[in-house]
Amino acid sequence: MRIGSVALIGAGPGDPGLITVRGLALLRRAEVIVYDRLVDRRLLREARRARRIFAGKASGDHALPQDEINALLVEHARRGRRVVRLKGGDPFVFGRGGEEAEALTAAGVPFEVVPGVSAAVAAPAYAGIPLTHRGVASSFAVVTGHECGKDRERVDWARLATAVDTLVVLMGVVALPRIARELLAHGRAPETPVALVRWGTTERQVVLTGRLDEIGARARAARLESPVVIVIGDVVALGARLAWFGRDARRPDVTPAAIRIGCRGPCIPVVVAGLPGVASPGGSAAGAVRIVAALRRPGPNTSADRSVRTAAARTRARAGACDRMPARFRSARA
Ligand SMILES: C[S@@+](CC[C@H](N)C(=O)[O-])C[C@H]1O[C@@H](n2cnc3c(N)ncnc32)[C@H](O)[C@@H]1O
Repeated sequence: MRIGSVALIGAGPGDPGLITVRGLALLRRAEVIVYDRLVDRRLLREARRARRIFAGKASGDHALPQDEINALLVEHARRGRRVVRLKGGDPFVFGRGGEEAEALTAAGVPFEVVPGVSAAVAAPAYAGIPLTHRGVASSFAVVTGHECGKDRERVDWARLATAVDTLVVLMGVVALPRIARELLAHGRAPETPVALVRWGTTERQVVLTGRLDEIGARARAARLESPVVIVIGDVVALGARLAWFGRDARRPDVTPAAIRIGCRGPCIPVVVAGLPGVASPGGSAAGAVRIVAALRRPGPNTSADRSVRTAAARTRARAGACDRMPARFRSARA
């Protein structure tokens, strides 16, 4: 029997329009698709006849262990099938794509790698944050906040603290208070701006900003959960002017949900379900709480998303009144 092949494809960070032309072409010809949790389900509809296998993974909740995923790819390819391994972002950026490629090499299965747009660059871009900017930042590093304890997997925070201008941390929301402490202890300025971009590039994108010395507490108060890209550095300040994705993204220091609620008259700062935002006396607190809860629920494309969109559409027309909100809520900096 003829041996099949495997394509390790980066699906991009969430917005399905960010998959590459090559990735989409291979996806449409796939006979088997093994896909990850953060892959937008609309991409799967591009290969209606393909068998779809969900491979996980949420933190601590792996649908399939990595060696079973590797074995699955090998098995289907050996049966002569065109297999697509569809992974969030880029397969070789904290995606364990290298391990899958090693398993395929060992098994003699032909494969190709189609790079994807990593959340490391896309989430900041959709928040209006360039990772480098003339006169502000000339270097950046992408690191994991999920360290496994083994030496090779440890991040050298002491050296990183001042070695690069912009730090991008993936899988770091749980460890954020510790990461901030490490960076402060090793020379990063307390007032360094930080942005947390949750569900970047999707309709559920939320951006929370603050100073390095307070961001851990703010994230905890907001009960911000994965997936979050953390951006640390002076470039974060540019987001206040350059945010373009969605009307609310122009005010990245508040949650879209809180902004959207009842900004008919003069706006006042509020905390809704632990999240900072603005509201006016005409707004509905119950509606705000419902939408904030929807934003927190994991998994894209749920009915909760629809309710967020509906609420957004209903209130977008009134959002002009939010221009009267206090200046400190308009700027990215607290
Ligand atoms: C296992 S890593 C995979 C990264 C992926 N290979 C990439 O290049 O984007 C998963 C982490 O990526 C980040 N991430 C992925 N998609 C995201 C999104 N749409 N918004 C924010 N963070 C995201 C989060 O930090 C999440 O915990």
